[in-house]
Amino acid sequence: MSPTKLVIGNWKMNGSAGLVKEFAALAKGDWPACDAALCVPYPLLAVAQGAFAVSPLRWGAQDCSAESDGAFTGEVSARMIRDFGARYVIVGHSERRSGHADTDGHVAGKAQRALAAGLTPIVCVGEKAEERDGNQTAMVLRRQLLQLVRTLGRGLGSIVIAYEPVWAIGSGHPAPPGLIDDAHRCISEILAFHAGTSATAVRILYGGSVSPGNAEAIMSCRHVSGVLVGQASLAPTAFLDICKAAELCQTAGLAAPAAQTIGT
Ligand code: 13P
Repeated sequence: MSPTKLVIGNWKMNGSAGLVKEFAALAKGDWPACDAALCVPYPLLAVAQGAFAVSPLRWGAQDCSAESDGAFTGEVSARMIRDFGARYVIVGHSERRSGHADTDGHVAGKAQRALAAGLTPIVCVGEKAEERDGNQTAMVLRRQLLQLVRTLGRGLGSIVIAYEPVWAIGSGHPAPPGLIDDAHRCISEILAFHAGTSATAVRILYGGSVSPGNAEAIMSCRHVSGVLVGQASLAPTAFLDICKAAELCQTAGLAAPAAQTIGT
């Protein structure tokens, strides 16, 4: 796994061409030595391509079709996203799984299309509050990951996983670091068991109420390779501060705090 932390912003249905340019202006200064990207709404991909071309920031989209092309009104293919110079595409976000009926099968198909188009898919997994309360977190993660392993085969080594417990998203309360680290270790073990060595390169991000105030504690966890940031990625200085925390954690190589157990 790369020691360089990865910070991804998910703008969701927010932002503007003006905001892309604000980020580009900020990134002209000193930028922390982490990997960073903003996943913007489709209409802003062209703006991001122009604004971030000579910038440390990369860009991406928030979903893609599981089909390559054809009569799928309203859909956007992975290849179209790649044509705008994007590096990443988020797939399987809980807001797509719940609001747009994305199944584990659809998510795996989207990840496969993304890889074929030369994009890095950021595949979101994570349990709902009732699943956490029923000690089903490990079972849910296993179910979400197995379809991916079966579909992607060796391609698995080129994806990024984002652990986003649904109950932490937009709540202002991230999962406790110990619980995050435990879930990430669980994901690593599931991948290693079912996919062997191809899984060792997979970066695992945490998402859910990440802010400048908690980013360092989260990214200090041993099994956390970076963060997927929603609300705080809409404020250029907050995003910069999270990237600074990423740089700090990767250079300090801080030890993981004691893990809290997640029920299976
Ligand atoms: P918030 O950071 O706003 O909780 O959103 C997290 C998220 O859904 C990122 O994909």
